[in-house]
Amino acid sequence: MVRALLGSVVLSLALASTAAGQDLEAGVTWVNTRGSTLTIDRVEPDGALAGTYVNRAAGFDCQDSPFPASGWVNGDKIAFTVDWKNAGENCDSITSWVGYLSGARLITNWDLVYTDSAEGRPMFMRGSDVFTPQ
Ligand code: BTN
Repeated sequence: MVRALLGSVVLSLALASTAAGQDLEAGVTWVNTRGSTLTIDRVEPDGALAGTYVNRAAGFDCQDSPFPASGWVNGDKIAFTVDWKNAGENCDSITSWVGYLSGARLITNWDLVYTDSAEGRPMFMRGSDVFTPQ
């Protein structure tokens, strides 16, 4: 009897967690509607995040190559930054995202700072990305 009750409690908790969606935990790859991916490699006990971002968004540079992502996770909220510089290339730009979990979706806003070649000076671009677990 106790075992049956325990089993049903465990099942209910598992179903509740599935309904709420994916956690912001290590080992999960998130893909956005532009085809780019954020893989969360580590989340430290204090919330510090280390990951890998692959940009596949049309109209942007630094495509199809892994870049380090670092930031923070606090419960259902995330902030992470990618400096678009790795061993292979340097796009001379940086993007920061902030966002929150909404069920199975990660809703984010981002700011990109880059050097505009025509203007010859740093400029901002701002947008939003929606990610789902891959
Ligand atoms: C650059 O073009 O200077 C570097 C790549 C920027 C890619 C941007 S970051 C925000 C948006 N979301 C993506 O997944 N990719 C683009």
